[in-house]
Amino acid sequence: MMSENAVKLTLSPYEYHAVMCVGKSCGENMPLLKYMKEAVRKAGLDQGEAAVRVNRAGCLGVCDQGPIMVIYPGGVWYSALNEAKIDKIISSHFKCGEPVAEWVFHAQDQ
Ligand code: FES
Repeated sequence: MMSENAVKLTLSPYEYHAVMCVGKSCGENMPLLKYMKEAVRKAGLDQGEAAVRVNRAGCLGVCDQGPIMVIYPGGVWYSALNEAKIDKIISSHFKCGEPVAEWVFHAQDQ
């Protein structure tokens, strides 16, 4: 239950929430995170109802075959990311709702 004194926060609408690990074992991949944010923007998915919210995490607890990213809804986890994979994830997963199965190593809803 929310307190009457709680500050009301607001978020812009979004369809997907992608959290990319930039932890040490995943290569501290800030350039890849920056690439993804820019690719999402170029795809027109940075705002509106179909937007993709992109955030980073220090470690997602799967410190192997990084960079790692998890996408909600669905809890879909990708490994060994690179720029080409990001492009395909944007065109298939975010734009068509079809996760790129060959790179998914875990999905919460399966
Ligand atoms: S450092 Fe990336 S999952 Fe742990």
